[in-house]
Amino acid sequence: MKSEGPFDFHGRTVFVAGGSSGINLGIAEAFAQHGATLAILGRSQERIGTALEQLRRHGGEAAGYSADVRDAAAVRDALAQAHARFGAIDVLVSGAAGNFLAPALGMSANGFKTVVDIDLLGSFNVLRGAHEFLRKPGASVISLSASQAFVPTPFQAHVCAAKAGVDMLTRVLAMEWGADGIRVNSIVPGPIEGTEGIRRLAPNDEERRRMTARVPLSRYGTCADIAGIAMVLSSPLGAYITGVVLPVDGGISLAGPRDFSAAWTATRRER
Ligand code: HXC
Ligand code: NAP
Repeated sequence: MKSEGPFDFHGRTVFVAGGSSGINLGIAEAFAQHGATLAILGRSQERIGTALEQLRRHGGEAAGYSADVRDAAAVRDALAQAHARFGAIDVLVSGAAGNFLAPALGMSANGFKTVVDIDLLGSFNVLRGAHEFLRKPGASVISLSASQAFVPTPFQAHVCAAKAGVDMLTRVLAMEWGADGIRVNSIVPGPIEGTEGIRRLAPNDEERRRMTARVPLSRYGTCADIAGIAMVLSSPLGAYITGVVLPVDGGISLAGPRDFSAAWTATRRER
């Protein structure tokens, strides 16, 4: 892809937590296509290796770090290594997340805590740990949220609580870090084609049909739909945007809570 004008990211470093698969990898790839140097973080070395092959095909440098976002010291260590190798981080994407369908009474305290720890504490660890390594002024920080943050959704108590926290963290850090010239925003994807997140929520054709029917634009989104907005937010075109929670969802969040009872029945784990 040609890189020019506001979307030329040559000489820029992009760090993507959760960048070894799905939407986050799609975002990483879009920046790589436009010349950026990439650092990605995830748990599985195997997934990281496959993702790096994909990213390096675009000709730039890419490095991977294996760490759990719940471990603040390990996250900071990965960020420090990326900084030592590539210099100041221009774009930080925080998208590691976990999910399963279960009613509140069907999840243990540890099940609830697991998702909150990955999504919310993990985001804090990534953003807090990155601050000293971010370009000042100029860095763009993007957290991946979900409509569950503002649409109360049965079978998703853990994700609703965690992502609402992620969005509030976005707003607070936009205020605290604005003076450093760091912008902090959330992107709220809708149901995105071919991702683990949507496989868990629409696990069969019937659920997929029901989900699509709720989208005003009548289709699933693509990773490219999300990546394009991440680039706009991180480009000079987004220079005056901070503290925003931006749905990129075909309008599905306007439609209220989805009914996940059938999807839960199809995926529930006997306890
Ligand atoms: C009830 C469950 C459960 C289920 C796990 N648990 N699955 N409870 N129903 N289906 C409980 C376990 O019993 C355990 O509690 C606790 O959760 C922790 O489980 P572990 O397997 O030990 O956790 P861990 O290995 O850390 O794995 C985390 C995970 C896993 C979230 C459970 O699925 C994961 O790593 N997911 C990453 C990929 C992913 O989820 N991608 C989707 C992102 S999309 P006990 O009490 O037994 O110890 C997303 C949603 C956005 O975020 C919205 C999309 C539209
Ligand atoms: P995904 O493919 O499951 O990607 C999750 C990524 O995070 C992977 O790289 C995963 O790698 C990593 N990860 C998970 N737990 C981690 C941990 N504890 N520590 C470090 N890395 C961890 O997810 P996705 O479906 O594309 O979703 C991406 C983001 O968009 C998430 O924040 C999600 O909430 C949001 N979102 C997705 C959708 C959708 O339709 N998919 C809709 C709305 C919002 P490892 O497992 O190897 O660690």
